[in-house]
Amino acid sequence: IVDPVPGRSIVLIGLMGAGKTSVGKRLAARLDRPFVDSDHEIEAAAGQDIPSIFSTLGEEAFRDGERRVIGRLLTGPAKVIATGGGAWMNADTRAAIGEQAISVWLDAKLNTLYGRVADKPGRPLLDGQDARKVLEDLMAARYPVYQQADVRVLSTAGANHEKMVDRIIA
Ligand code: S3P
Repeated sequence: IVDPVPGRSIVLIGLMGAGKTSVGKRLAARLDRPFVDSDHEIEAAAGQDIPSIFSTLGEEAFRDGERRVIGRLLTGPAKVIATGGGAWMNADTRAAIGEQAISVWLDAKLNTLYGRVADKPGRPLLDGQDARKVLEDLMAARYPVYQQADVRVLSTAGANHEKMVDRIIA
């Protein structure tokens, strides 16, 4: 397979449950690139998982770590980078990705997202909340900004990940 953007990282953005990690791993394998997940990198740097980062350090500290980690991931060899759902909302992060990488938005409808995240622990924004309502609010706030991505691919409930990878590469 021919790498469509040699030397440039590909950054996946989209809401929780859009499939950034699953699709990102497959895309990276297909293009023979390393895969990294910004959430995991932040956890490794902080030495704690995301729920405890939120509860001990607060969301603002998480967002700051997220911005720094993504800045670092953008340097060095071209990768596929899955980001947390809020990463793209930071203007510095958007600018850095815009200059150094290609952004791909995995666009999904509410029911698809809800079906994938409901009753799964580890996401502090949904913890103890009405997940449907939170996702709806996040869609309203973020989708207009996600639309600035270079590429948009639909992520539907039954979507075949390999087909999504084909579409991203195309
Ligand atoms: C968040 C999404 C999460 C994680 C954190 C905050 C968000 O990542 O970064 O819980 O603000 O949408 P995923 O999108 O990988 O679930």
